Amino acid sequence: MLPKDTTITTTRCMLSIPDESDFDMIFSASRYDGFNDGMQWDPPQSKDDLWIPLQNSIKSWENGMGYAFTIQSKDADPIKYGRISIRVTEEKGKWNLGYWIHPQYHGRGLMTECVEGIVNFGFNTLNAHTITANVSTWNKASEKVILNNGFMFSHHIPQGIKKNGAWVAENGFYLTKSSWEKCKEEKLIQ
Ligand SMILES: CC(C)(COP(=O)(O)OP(=O)(O)OC[C@H]1O[C@@H](n2cnc3c(N)ncnc32)[C@H](O)[C@@H]1OP(=O)(O)O)[C@@H](O)C(=O)NCCC(=O)NCCS
Repeated sequence: MLPKDTTITTTRCMLSIPDESDFDMIFSASRYDGFNDGMQWDPPQSKDDLWIPLQNSIKSWENGMGYAFTIQSKDADPIKYGRISIRVTEEKGKWNLGYWIHPQYHGRGLMTECVEGIVNFGFNTLNAHTITANVSTWNKASEKVILNNGFMFSHHIPQGIKKNGAWVAENGFYLTKSSWEKCKEEKLIQ
């Protein structure tokens, strides 16, 4: 288990373990049209619905099954931007990413930067050999974030996530430690 005060810093952001001070930002994001379409969750009906997911995130930290980080600015009075998580899969050494940014802050390169930070953390701190991400086929912004970090397409998943009773297809992407190191050497990614 990693200490709960573990943080990841990127150029503009500080990533740290979630707490209840995130609720306003999460609830606000979930109210935007279309925001939930690419997410696995059922959006909360009220802020009270966020307590159980928070407790689950903390439990995952404690049992080493996954590390969710709240993304915020490095300012003295930080702006909360969103979340990023890295969690175990059925295969030892293979970890999977999930992420979102509050719609108010889309298109500023924040998630590209945070994926870079968590990939570095995954390979260097968690000793991952491979990091994966599944992206709804329509979600071109998310796909771009992953591709811009050197991930490669692995497979198509016709029954990716279920939304309003219907399956939404996803594409699976992966990055191995060796291809990440090679990309860095060739300066294809930072
Ligand atoms: C996907 C998401 C995390 C991206 O966050 P972000 O901080 O806006 O992403 P960035 O600004 O770092 O990068 C977005 C990239 O997508 C591109 N992009 C944005 N909209 C696009 C579109 N409709 N078609 C193609 N590319 C698009 C941008 O140009 C940018 O690429 P570039 O850096 O090469 O120019 C954000 O849109 C989000 O939170 N969506 C809702 C939740 C979600 O879908 N999460 C992902 C689940 S897999």
